Amino acid sequence: MPNQNSPTRYGVVAQAFHWVIAALVVTQFVLANLAGDLPIGVHKLALLARHKSFGMTVLMLAILRVLWRLKNPPPELPAGMRPLERMLARSTHVAFYVLLFAMPITGWLMSSAKNYSVSWFGLFTWPNLIGKNEAAFELLRSTHDLLSGVLFVIAVLHILAALKHHFWNKDDVLLRMLPFTKARRPKSEVQS
Ligand code: HEM
Ligand code: HEM
Repeated sequence: MPNQNSPTRYGVVAQAFHWVIAALVVTQFVLANLAGDLPIGVHKLALLARHKSFGMTVLMLAILRVLWRLKNPPPELPAGMRPLERMLARSTHVAFYVLLFAMPITGWLMSSAKNYSVSWFGLFTWPNLIGKNEAAFELLRSTHDLLSGVLFVIAVLHILAALKHHFWNKDDVLLRMLPFTKARRPKSEVQS
C-alpha cells in the first residue's frame, strides 16, 4: 500500500492520521463526559489530565497532518457528486481541520487562564499561554464547550455522509479511506 495519496485513494499516512485522530477525538468526548459527572477530586483531575494529554496529542498530530496534506493533495471526489454535495464535503473537512486546532487551543488557553498546568502524560509541561484570569477562563470554557457541540454535530453528519456514499451511492469514498480494501469495480466492468 503506497504511503502517498493517489488521485483515487488516500495513502497509508493520510489514513493513519485520519483514524488515529478520529479515535482520539472520540476518547476526548468519553473522558470529558466521565470527568463531568464526577465531583471535584483526585479521580476527576486524573481524567482531566488524561483529557489534556490526549488533546495536546491531537494538536501535534493535526499540525503534522496539515503539513502532510499540503504535500499530498487528497483524491478527487467522485465525478457524480452534485456541486452542493461537493461544497458540503469540502466545508465539513475545512471545519474539522479548524476544530482540530481550535479545540486543543481553547482547552490549553482555558487551563492557562486558571493557572492549571498542562502536562503531557507526566513527561513534560506545556507553558501557560496567558496569565490567571477568571473572566477569560469562563469565556474560554464556554467556547470550548460550544465548539465541542459543533464538532459533535459535524462528526455525526460526516459519518452519515460516509455511510451514504458506501451503501446508497455505492462509490469508493469510504473504501479509499479504509486500509486493506480495494476499489469497487466500475459498473461497466461488472458482468451481468
Ligand atoms: C480535540 C481535542 C479536544 C476535544 C474534542 C475536547 C472536548 C471536550 C469536551 C466535549 C468537554 C466537555 C464540555 C462540557 O460539556 O462541559 C471538554 C471539557 C474540558 N476540556 Fe477539552 N477537548 C479537547 C482538548 C482539550 C485540551 C487540549 C485541553 C487542555 C489542555 C482541554 C481541557 C478541558 C477542560 C479543563 C475541560 C473541563 C471544563 C470544565 O471545567 O467544564 N481540552 N473538552
Ligand atoms: C470525529 C472523528 C472524525 C474526524 C475528526 C474526521 C475528519 C476527517 C477529515 C478532516 C477528512 C478529510 C481528509 C482530507 O482530505 O484531508 C475526513 C475524510 C473522511 N472521513 Fe472522517 N473523520 C472522523 C470520523 C470518521 C468516521 C467514523 C468515518 C467512517 C464512518 C469517516 C469517514 C471518512 C471518509 C470516508 C473520508 C474521505 C472523504 C473523501 O474521500 O473525500 N470519518 N475525515
